[in-house]
Amino acid sequence: MEKGVFITFEGIDGCGKTTMQGLCGQLLESRGKRVLLTKEPGDSDFGRSFRQMLLHTQMGEMNDATEVLLYAADRARHVDKVIRPALAQGMVVLCDRYLDSTIAYQGGGRGVEMDLLWRINDFATGGLSPDLTFYLRLDVEQMASRLSAGKDRLEKEAPRFFARVARAYEDLAARFPHRFVTVDANRPPEEVFSQIERKITEFFSWS
Ligand code: TYD
Repeated sequence: MEKGVFITFEGIDGCGKTTMQGLCGQLLESRGKRVLLTKEPGDSDFGRSFRQMLLHTQMGEMNDATEVLLYAADRARHVDKVIRPALAQGMVVLCDRYLDSTIAYQGGGRGVEMDLLWRINDFATGGLSPDLTFYLRLDVEQMASRLSAGKDRLEKEAPRFFARVARAYEDLAARFPHRFVTVDANRPPEEVFSQIERKITEFFSWS
């Protein structure tokens, strides 16, 4: 059976991942690929409940352990029921956020020990790593102007929090150069997409 390809989209809130994921899906389908668009948190059959727990604005303070384990549980279900079955069918899976989000937000942002996060997430995913990760690098000042009033629990975090998240993404990009592709997300969407298109063309060896 043909093995699929696993591609993730990462970056701070407001970086435009979801738009780029959609455009990438159209590009791949136009080249005859079977594509699955999915996201974290919340795209498994348990997802809606996890999403409500994780992002509901009314919720009070959540401690780090609760937050890390909820994201990991959501991911474990998502990998088992959605991502791996699609890869086994040879599909290209485009996922909006994956475990790098935990390293960046819970590790960089909240300061949870990175080794612990890697171990928990290795267990959650059974070691499934993306083949390619697009990191949409957006300045924190740009983020503040892009996000609208209806902010969820995490988007209300201080700019300092997002500066730490961004730094953690930079560290990930430096540590995993074989799969990370950093894209300048401060540019207009057409330019951002053309950076992504170039890499996809190279990755699939299209001429
Ligand atoms: P969402 O509304 O899906 O926003 P976005 O379009 O930015 O992905 O919210 C997801 C939020 O959850 C986002 O602020 C990042 C956060 N998050 C973590 O903190 N850790 C994680 O492991 C994941 C997957 C998301």
